Amino acid sequence: MAIRKIRVDEDPILRKVSRKVEVFDDRLFQLLDDMHDTLKQKDGIGLAAVQIGVLRRVVVVEYEGNSMELINPEIIEREGEQCENEACLSLPHRAGKTVRPKSVKVRAQNRNGNWCLYKGTDLLARCFCHEIDHLDGKLYTDRLVPGEKVFFTED
Ligand code: NI
Repeated sequence: MAIRKIRVDEDPILRKVSRKVEVFDDRLFQLLDDMHDTLKQKDGIGLAAVQIGVLRRVVVVEYEGNSMELINPEIIEREGEQCENEACLSLPHRAGKTVRPKSVKVRAQNRNGNWCLYKGTDLLARCFCHEIDHLDGKLYTDRLVPGEKVFFTED
């Protein structure tokens, strides 16, 4: 078990584009395990590898008791729209209202390299979009509802 340091605020790595995973080996499994440990310790729902300083297209999600591992994820369908407050472990103590699809379908590889399909609605759709954005160097602050600002929170 290893908790990794989360990159925050103006760390330039957060704006970089992550590379596709081509090799599904022990190093990837270690990365995934560390990401789960780090996410659980922070009590978050989603974490992208770039947030711990690894520029690979890897995301982990902890949602309603389900642990998900999404490698090379792509959104293949978007439906509807939602505007809700969103936060990020890399931008601590802040939140902001974003525009996201109401539901999405995501295609991603698992740790064995097999392609799987995920469907998310509401919070889970936001989470998938938010984490996949991280892989392209985007933050939720790029997706704010027009006229909305990031605000400070208690946590
Ligand atoms: Ni985030």
